[in-house]
Amino acid sequence: MAIKYIPYFKETIQGQAILDNFTRTKRVLKYAENDKVLNRINRGMPLYEVETEEIVGSKEKENMVIRGECVSACAYLKENNIKVDLVYIDPPFASGADYAKTIYVRRNPKVVEAVEKAEEKLEDEELRSFEEKMYGDVWNKEAYLNWMYENLMAIKTVMSETASIYVHLDWHIGHYVKILMDEVFGEENFIDEIIWHYEKWTAGSNMLQKNHDVIYWYSKSNEFVFNEQREVTENLKKKYENGYLIGGGYGSNGLVVYDENNPKAKKLINSGKYKVVYANTEGKPLSDVWDIPFINPMANERIDYSTQKPEKLLERIIKISSNENMVIADFFGGSGVTAKVANDLNRKFIHCDVGVNSIETTRDRLVEAGASFKVMDIKDGVNLYRNPVQTMEKVKSLIPGLKEEESISNFWAGVINDSKEGIIPVYIPNLMDSGTKILDIVLVNKIINGEIPELEDGIRKVIIYYIDITDKKEVKKFVKENLRRDIEIELKDLKEILDETVVTDILEYHIEKKELIIDKFISDRLIGKINEYNEKMKAQKVSTGKKEKRIEISDEGLELIEMVSLDCTSKKGTWNSDEEIKIDKKGYVTKNGKKTKEFWDGKISFKKKPLRIKVRNIAGDESVIIL
Ligand SMILES: C[S@@+](CC[C@H](N)C(=O)[O-])C[C@H]1O[C@@H](n2cnc3c(N)ncnc32)[C@H](O)[C@@H]1O
Repeated sequence: MAIKYIPYFKETIQGQAILDNFTRTKRVLKYAENDKVLNRINRGMPLYEVETEEIVGSKEKENMVIRGECVSACAYLKENNIKVDLVYIDPPFASGADYAKTIYVRRNPKVVEAVEKAEEKLEDEELRSFEEKMYGDVWNKEAYLNWMYENLMAIKTVMSETASIYVHLDWHIGHYVKILMDEVFGEENFIDEIIWHYEKWTAGSNMLQKNHDVIYWYSKSNEFVFNEQREVTENLKKKYENGYLIGGGYGSNGLVVYDENNPKAKKLINSGKYKVVYANTEGKPLSDVWDIPFINPMANERIDYSTQKPEKLLERIIKISSNENMVIADFFGGSGVTAKVANDLNRKFIHCDVGVNSIETTRDRLVEAGASFKVMDIKDGVNLYRNPVQTMEKVKSLIPGLKEEESISNFWAGVINDSKEGIIPVYIPNLMDSGTKILDIVLVNKIINGEIPELEDGIRKVIIYYIDITDKKEVKKFVKENLRRDIEIELKDLKEILDETVVTDILEYHIEKKELIIDKFISDRLIGKINEYNEKMKAQKVSTGKKEKRIEISDEGLELIEMVSLDCTSKKGTWNSDEEIKIDKKGYVTKNGKKTKEFWDGKISFKKKPLRIKVRNIAGDESVIIL
């Protein structure tokens, strides 16, 4: 349950009118159900408990990597009076796609050791991998726009007066969001539409290649930060050879001057007939069409995170719209590109993402970049399992006896057949839709006045699961006063079922002098996934006749480990990673943030006696062992 709700608007002082409070119920973009979000806006942003899980580097208080939803992160920032000076977001695009993470099985250290002893060369075996769903980007337009409206409203509450916001989208939904942004930030604060152009093509397509994304740039006020940038285009390089430039996109009487001492250029400038723009060796003032290549699969910055954006893109945005020491926030941070570039450019950063994979990827990326920050977790109920997609997939299988039932509307997840009570319809909130995550009066009203009257007469009970509830007493009172049918409504907390089923991995180890040696690693969750994959491969072999691609795991299971971290400072509370090793997909080790060309040998050395061990498996689940 949220601790409290943080208002989206400034509190109105008695007798004083605040413009926002007048305009807040007026919607500009008209679409079905666009009023639904207003209840939530009027209620405020839910503020949840926040836990600092780890401090990396010096006790840096301002840099944050937050696991949680954008709206709940904004509630936390607003409550703590933390303002941000620049926002870049690259939210789901409503692309209809499901994004997956490829999980690579690492090299078995025992095999590496044996091969090295025999002085044989290690075969560069084909990487063994399987996929796991990370997040879905499937929306209906109305739900997406309501969700986006709420996010933009929340972000606005934490922007400083000189802040800008850049929203990265594409042809799927960009044009609608542009209008939402007019509504939230004001048309007068629209600064530009940036086109990010890249080369990419598919063979044999029957339409034009889609080669650009759009980035909408708005400011909070007209006092926004702007640092002019310059670029040398290919075209410009050719023209430089002549010593000066004429034309170049400034209309027929425009003049772009490269060398003002050039006699011909001097004469033209002196004629006073032209609008003159000086281009220096750094090029001409940057335009709003940016040619930046997609990240090459072999590039150093490439991390296995689908939808990862190039550092160059963020470098431009951050340089244009912020100065050193300002706070740069990305509330849909993904691979952590914004935080990484902000740190490189001596800015502070706030990275937020709902998925645990994003937090782990970003944390490791920032450790390698030598950044200092804290990792925080918002207890908003979505952190169960690694991400909401997986949580949703799991939920149905965790409710005993739940079966799909065609005769009732698909509002219900299914029914339980109870010998005493008969058929019990069960409602489960959709974690992917923030509109249904919180059980409030609006949702209860929909259930008792919209859904329950449609159920067959014989039904005597329904079960309503919730992830979060506004106020249980108030909800029960509302049900009592408004339910017009003899039916029992049982309210149940979904988190309780999920909490009970979290299984941790098992680690067997021993300590020799200043080394912790891992003997065995057992991850039932991963073995389950790998068995599923092997079954699929077997079925494929039968249907295609091709060689079966199985994944075999050794008895020791060390190839299922991605990271080992030792806390030698404290037995409880915030994690201190005093020693850590991370094994990349090819089996090379990164030690305390420094990449090496060594294969992992199953050991981790320490200077001070470890008090806790944290092991992360290749899918990202972490287990902690207290020594
Ligand atoms: C397109 S990706 C961002 C990619 C990122 N710009 C990069 O370069 O790596 C969108 C991200 O938004 C996250 N996300 C989805 N819904 C969210 C929400 N309500 N709050 C915060 N993050 C969310 C997803 O987990 C995903 O990592």
